[in-house]
Amino acid sequence: FDLTGSNTFGLKSSARRAVIVDDPEMLPALAHESAASGLPLRILGGGSNVVLNERLEAIVALMRIGGRQVVRRTESETIVTAGAGENWHDFVSWTVAEGVPGLENLAGIPGTVGAAPIQNIGAYGAQLSDFFLSLEAFDLKDGVVRTFDAAACRFAYRQSHFKAEPGRHVILSVTLALPTVWRAKRDYAGLDLLPEQASAQEVLDHVVALRASKLPDWRTLGNAGSFFHNPVVSAEKAAEIAGAPRYPQPDGTVKLSAGWLIEQCGLKGFRLGPAGTYARHALVLVNHGGATSTDIAALANHTRDKVRERFGVELVQEPIAF
Ligand code: EPU
Repeated sequence: FDLTGSNTFGLKSSARRAVIVDDPEMLPALAHESAASGLPLRILGGGSNVVLNERLEAIVALMRIGGRQVVRRTESETIVTAGAGENWHDFVSWTVAEGVPGLENLAGIPGTVGAAPIQNIGAYGAQLSDFFLSLEAFDLKDGVVRTFDAAACRFAYRQSHFKAEPGRHVILSVTLALPTVWRAKRDYAGLDLLPEQASAQEVLDHVVALRASKLPDWRTLGNAGSFFHNPVVSAEKAAEIAGAPRYPQPDGTVKLSAGWLIEQCGLKGFRLGPAGTYARHALVLVNHGGATSTDIAALANHTRDKVRERFGVELVQEPIAF
């Protein structure tokens, strides 16, 4: 089954078998088939945060479980829920249109609702964990549906329990709590241009435009968004790197910009075969056409080597390899 069109990187890839999952009831049989065949079951949502191997010896489940709903409105919060296969951006737009603001800073992020908690998506001063209430997931190991609250998800920067223990749980639906008292979040660079009284829809539109000005559209230039985490280093280490943008963390460590470090190594716009570093944002690796995971790995290794040699900082890959 050809997956080249099912990953935003556009990497050439095919799987032994692929199946569209649009109903949670399909999972017990798939878990059984996986165990019987010895082929692991891998879940693909929007394919926007993965580096797919050229040949996948796996059963790939294309997650399409739909449905979205305002569950209840109380004085303090509105509870919304969506199926794992819903498109994340469409879900965000829908909540704002329903008069439930809160998620607008996370507009325009490619991928599905079910993938959002795995890497705890974040952008423009917000992250999923700020709004997270619970999720339902099918446990492939024990064959049962489990509910995870925020604590059980162990969210951190671009990290969760599901990323730490890959392959065990299939997220089925996600439930968020959006506070009734709303104020536009305008503290991230670029959003300060918005008027103080900006509506949620205006913030959403602005975020979409800001992303479009910085990040390549995967429909025209294959990519998986930020390819590395922003590294978190000690304050002493950060002080050694002259001129670097620094984001002090509550625990005294400092987050650096991987994009800045890569650009300083002269790699912005660099190409290695069909793989390249985006000319307008060095943190994004792109597929100029016909790339495989091997091409991406070669460029990623080169980038990591250069940044290590120059700054002594280790970059960690963000998209999941499979
Ligand atoms: N920068 C450079 N050169 C570059 C790119 C960036 O010097 O080529 C500098 C910028 O000038 C700025 C700093 O790096 O001072 C941060 O850049 P930016 O605001 O673009 O954000 P980022 O840290 O590169 C993160 C997320 C993005 C998210 C943006 C906006 C990670 C790994 N990435 O990027 O998330 O959209 O902030 O909030 O945390 C993603 O995860 O796929 C993603 C796109």
